[in-house]
Amino acid sequence: MTNKIIVAIDGYSSCGKSTIAKALAKYAGYTYVDTGAMYRAIGLYTLRHNLTEPADIIAALPQIQVGFILIDGAQHVTLNGADVESQIRTLEVGNCASRISQIKEVRAFLVAQQQRMGDDKGIVMDGRDIGTVVFPNAELKLFLTASPEVRAQRRFDELVEKGEKPDYDAVLADVNDRDYRDTHRAESPLRQAEDAIVVDNSHLTREEQMKVIYDLFDRHK
Ligand code: DC
Repeated sequence: MTNKIIVAIDGYSSCGKSTIAKALAKYAGYTYVDTGAMYRAIGLYTLRHNLTEPADIIAALPQIQVGFILIDGAQHVTLNGADVESQIRTLEVGNCASRISQIKEVRAFLVAQQQRMGDDKGIVMDGRDIGTVVFPNAELKLFLTASPEVRAQRRFDELVEKGEKPDYDAVLADVNDRDYRDTHRAESPLRQAEDAIVVDNSHLTREEQMKVIYDLFDRHK
């Protein structure tokens, strides 16, 4: 029997973390956890309740339950028991998630929940602080990067696919703003763990990238 491990995947927004993490979880027979979806669910709650002040957001945390359910094999995030997967994937909720993720108490609230999810290992978790804060002892840590322009184009294409009419320059500005906030916040800023393996996928096809990642996993398990 092989021992299960924890795979921590961190990186900038829109660099394909969740696609890679999902594919790797399937390959390994592991559970996938999208921690960005958890921050987005809290962001959605604050938008719905018009909470903007950190003190009000912190006071609301005991009323917020974030979870996951499987629908046709796909993971959907839940907010107080309701499936909110489609509502959280907008630029507005993404920006709000980026803002509320700067609050120390919000991070502590979600990090504790994320750590419990790793109790039995066999997990692929993606986010910004997984290899540095949530699972500093993860057996395999990957740090994904791609140029801001490549990431903006990917996000632009995703939005077009959803029927939205995005402006490329606005999407690029949003990617740059979010990178700045994610890497400069006081609480658990996005940074590469010292023992993380960097994968720059700007010029890799999905197949090339997955081969690199499956090989890394096979060597570690
Ligand atoms: O990966 P994403 O775009 O769905 O994440 C939304 C926001 O949540 C992102 O701007 C930063 C924040 N986030 C975080 O601070 N820590 C994580 N582990 C995951 C996401």
